[in-house]
Amino acid sequence: MRILVVGNGGREHTLLWKLNRDLPNAKLFATQPNGGMAELAEAVEISPMDLEALAGWAASRVMDLTVVGPEAPLAAGIADRFQAKGLPVFGPTAAAARIESSKSFAKELMRNAGVPTADFRVFRDHGAAEEHIRERGAPVVVKASGLAAGKGAIVCDTVEQACRAARQMLVDLRFGEAGREVVVEECMRGEELSVFALTDGRAFLTLLPSQDHKRLGEGDTGPNTGGMGSYAPVSLATPELMREVEERILLPTLRALEAEGSPFQGLLYAGLMLTEEGPKVVEFNCRFGDPETQAVLPLMANSLLEPLAAIAEGGSVSGHELRWHEGGAVTTVLASRGYPDSYEKGKPIFVPPDLVRDPNLLLFHAGTSRSAGTLVTSGGRVLAVTGLGTSLDEAARKSLAGAEAVEFEDKYFRTDIGWREFARDEWGRP
Ligand code: AMP
Ligand code: GLY
Repeated sequence: MRILVVGNGGREHTLLWKLNRDLPNAKLFATQPNGGMAELAEAVEISPMDLEALAGWAASRVMDLTVVGPEAPLAAGIADRFQAKGLPVFGPTAAAARIESSKSFAKELMRNAGVPTADFRVFRDHGAAEEHIRERGAPVVVKASGLAAGKGAIVCDTVEQACRAARQMLVDLRFGEAGREVVVEECMRGEELSVFALTDGRAFLTLLPSQDHKRLGEGDTGPNTGGMGSYAPVSLATPELMREVEERILLPTLRALEAEGSPFQGLLYAGLMLTEEGPKVVEFNCRFGDPETQAVLPLMANSLLEPLAAIAEGGSVSGHELRWHEGGAVTTVLASRGYPDSYEKGKPIFVPPDLVRDPNLLLFHAGTSRSAGTLVTSGGRVLAVTGLGTSLDEAARKSLAGAEAVEFEDKYFRTDIGWREFARDEWGRP
């Protein structure tokens, strides 16, 4: 079997790692692989956004399956191009990917389908947005409707801050085209939960829920990042809560997309807020989450390849069942100091050999590359260290020990991944 993975971050390294476990003799390919992916996959030197070239390459090399990691090529229609050539591809069409690429589309779909989410309004005119912000009052959330690499949501404590955010998006075009339309919404309170569902458009398989750590600093302080760590499972996600998420959120959303003429085939990621009134959607994504994938997939006890291939070939996942290992996984992200702003690249990375041999420690590469045979840093988020354990506590200690043992100049990481879980009282409150 010949499989192409599109994308070259920590999520894609994890996908390759899992596909290789599921089918060791599969021939794996990856676009512009990072320093870790290169050990598992043959390099395809085509950009994920060069859709025509990629589809042409996949057709000429007869790929049996293509798995798309990032949202940008999905929003640009990579799945549509592959499908037009008869190539099996895992990932939604551009029309279905609007659930992530257009927040106004997602919010209106949720409102019409009765899916719980923050109350909102959509604006293209700055004056009208400001008037509404003043009426609504603070705290309030202002979001660019389009793709903004995770930076387009501003949680504002004051009306002035919210008006400034709306002006930056609608007038100064700080997020370019993505900010020509703005969603102003109610600020929700609660803990966040990431729920992934593998879906053929109708039936779906829910993966083990996880929690991301978006803030740069310990105790969830400082600026938002792409994610500094993650863990799974999350004790707040009881079977009852998950049933509610499936019945009130996942199922009606998939039905609404299908009724709208854009059935979603791929991975639907529901970013939830667990509020006092129950789970509500913060956002939907049209792909696996990063760094949640690095904690969730190592806990999967059966094949990921089977449902991915079934969905890509237009088959059904009903009848498939997912099984999970006991215990937990904690992922600590090693970043370059200065991230998410500016940082230096090209620092040599030292990975102790006994760390690579430890079956309970997995090292997923993100911003790494090989330069004259040496592994060096090449991005803000450099590596993800996943620790596995019979308990979450054990997994966290493993992950932290691994994070400390890997060396490169200006390494930065959080030492408290999973802290909410460890701080919970008997009522489940952190
Ligand atoms: P998004 O880009 O929509 O995922 O938002 C990024 C982050 O902003 C989320 O993970 C939340 O922490 C926060 N956020 C977004 N929307 C809201 C909201 N309505 N209420 C509170 N926090 C929010
Ligand atoms: N972990 C957040 C994301 O993948 O968007």
